[in-house]
Amino acid sequence: MTTAGNREVLLAAARSGRENAVAPFSKFRVGAAVRAKSGRIYSGCNVENASYGLTMCAERVAIFKALSEGERGFDAIAVVTDTDKLTPPCGACRQIIWEFCGDAEVILGNLKGNMELHRMSTLLPRPFDASNL
Ligand code: THU
Repeated sequence: MTTAGNREVLLAAARSGRENAVAPFSKFRVGAAVRAKSGRIYSGCNVENASYGLTMCAERVAIFKALSEGERGFDAIAVVTDTDKLTPPCGACRQIIWEFCGDAEVILGNLKGNMELHRMSTLLPRPFDASNL
């Protein structure tokens, strides 16, 4: 169940993931955290590359870490940046979040404690997925 308390826990994990951001090119530091149905939380940060195109977003790092530890099924994902305008997942991340988390809750936050709640079905309407194959 997603409650105010466990949203705060997920945001805190995303904030602390952000501390490890590897963002020497954009200087735009992003943290993310996913909560698996097991109850475990996995954090991630963006990892940039001099070729730019190989950059990996914080959301995908968090999800891939969890999947590689054997987790399947997720309830919620949090994304934290140090911006007044909160940062939603990019298009590529929306596709990956839909694939592995389905209609999860997406919690956006910043370092000032502002928060917005969204649902993946709103952020990615009419998605392409395995049901189309
Ligand atoms: N970034 C993320 O990590 N997640 C997002 O949702 C938006 C963008 C990263 C990628 C890149 O390292 C930097 O932010 C600027 O685009």
